[in-house]
Amino acid sequence: MKLADRVAIVTGAASGIGRAIAETLAREGARVAIFDVNETGAGETARAIETAGGTARAYDVDVTKKAVVDAAVADVVGRWGALHVAVSNAGWDRPAPFVETSEDFWDKVLAINLKAAIIFTRAVLETMMKQQHGRIVFIASDAGRVGSTGEAVYSAAKGGVIAFTKTIAREVARHRINVNCVCPGPSDTPLFQSFVAENPKLGESLKRVIPWGRLGVPDDVAPAVVFLSSDDAAFITGQTISVSGGLTMV
Ligand SMILES: NC(=O)c1ccc[n+]([C@@H]2O[C@H](COP(=O)([O-])OP(=O)(O)OC[C@H]3O[C@@H](n4cnc5c(N)ncnc54)[C@H](O)[C@@H]3O)[C@@H](O)[C@H]2O)c1
Repeated sequence: MKLADRVAIVTGAASGIGRAIAETLAREGARVAIFDVNETGAGETARAIETAGGTARAYDVDVTKKAVVDAAVADVVGRWGALHVAVSNAGWDRPAPFVETSEDFWDKVLAINLKAAIIFTRAVLETMMKQQHGRIVFIASDAGRVGSTGEAVYSAAKGGVIAFTKTIAREVARHRINVNCVCPGPSDTPLFQSFVAENPKLGESLKRVIPWGRLGVPDDVAPAVVFLSSDDAAFITGQTISVSGGLTMV
């Protein structure tokens, strides 16, 4: 097991990619805290991990609320005595032409996809700096590398996460904290299905432009996160890796 006795937090792990990341980290031996606003889904993820013999705990956390995130991170560290892996995965969008979107919508997209990553990083770094060890993995998106029609503000937020990754990686390298970013391409999750509900041809048209010829699935992304969280990636920091079947090659 690559992560025996490690403590991990995964945000947005009630569903989709975050759930797969949480379950895969747990299979590698990590104790996993699940931060999500979806209490039911978070509980299901925790139960699935425990049924498989792992250790998990679900937290009702809105990642856009700094005080709530700070308190939940402190609870995890108090309970399990350390924090080795922090995965900032929670995200949200609703595709629409930019000129049809409102300021309230921009604020929501930026809060969940960018500011939450900043809040979470600030919350976890204190412990990781004391330990002189830590792994932070951000889940951004290929939209942040190459753009995505109908996702202008989301792309800006995810591009911000990629840039944030690089600067934080530079700042905390001396504390032996690795900071990397994984960019999924279009992946079949509840979030993606909400896009398909509005545009039923989306899945088929994306399959045609993905060299691998299919959409991603959450289990495509999770192993990349495990790798970046493990000792195998000890000398890798500040990097952005796409998991998208070759859709983007940058
Ligand atoms: N599915 C895709 O095609 C795709 C592509 C590129 C990037 N991503 C990114 O992958 C990540 C996971 O997306 P997914 O497709 O699994 O979506 P999903 O909707 O299945 O899961 C996202 C999770 O985030 C949680 N969440 C949303 N807002 C939150 C908040 N304020 N506080 C706490 N939790 C919150 C949701 O409750 C949900 O459990 C996101 O960052 C998304 O932007 C997804």
